[in-house]
Amino acid sequence: MTRPLIIAPSLLAADFARLGEEVAAIEAAGADWLHLDIMDGHFVPNISFGPAVVKALRRHSRMAFDVHLMIAPADPYLAAFAEAGADLISLHPEAGPHLHRSLQTIRALGKKAGVVLNPGTPASAVAPVLDLVDLILVMTVNPGFGGQSFLQSQLPKIAELRRMIDATGREIHLQVDGGVTEQTAPLCIQAGADALVAGTAVFGKPDYAAAIAALRGKRA
Ligand code: DX5
Ligand code: ZN
Repeated sequence: MTRPLIIAPSLLAADFARLGEEVAAIEAAGADWLHLDIMDGHFVPNISFGPAVVKALRRHSRMAFDVHLMIAPADPYLAAFAEAGADLISLHPEAGPHLHRSLQTIRALGKKAGVVLNPGTPASAVAPVLDLVDLILVMTVNPGFGGQSFLQSQLPKIAELRRMIDATGREIHLQVDGGVTEQTAPLCIQAGADALVAGTAVFGKPDYAAAIAALRGKRA
C-alpha cells in the first residue's frame, strides 16, 4: 500500500539566528510539517528552545507544527505548547508516570497526540494507549542531538508498529526520527513509516527543495 509521505524537517538543525526565514524556506521547498525538538537538559542531555519560540514561529508558517517533547515532567507544559500553536504534541512514556492521562490532556486541548519510543523502548509500550494516539514516533537515534547515525536495529520495531496500527483500522501516523537521510529513508518507508523527520539531511544541504525531494526518492 502506498501512503502519502510526510516530510518533517527538524528545526534543531536550522540557523538559530534566522529561524523565521528558515521555516519559510523549508515550507517553500515542499516540507509538510515542521518538527520542533523541545529539550530540557534533564530528560535529555541538551537544551533547545521552549514555547515562546514555537509561538513566534507560528505566524511564519502554515505547516502543521509537530512538537516532540523531550522534557520531564511534560504535563505542566502541554497547555503552553498547545497555546503556542502546536498541532501535534508527542511525548516519551518515560517522561512521567501517567502516559494515558498526558495523552488525554493533549486531546482535551484539541491537539493530536503522539507517543515517542526510544531505541531501548519496545513497541509494546504504546499498545495500552493506542486508542488515544494519532502518531507513533520511532527514534532511530538516542534523543538529544542531531547529526547522529541511524540505528538499523530499530527497523523491525517500525514494521511491528505498522502491523499494530493496521490492525486498529484507524489513521495513526508512523514517524521515524534520527539519522534519516536519502540512504536510510527508503528503509523506513519499506518498514512501514509514513512520516520522516530530518534535520541535517535538510538544513545541512544548500538546496532545501532538492534535499526534501531526495528524501522522497525524487529529484527537485
Ligand atoms: C533528536 C531529535 C531529532 C533530530 C534529528 O533528539 O529528536 O529530531 O533533530 O536530527 P538528524 O536528522 O540530524 O538526525
Ligand atoms: Zn525529534
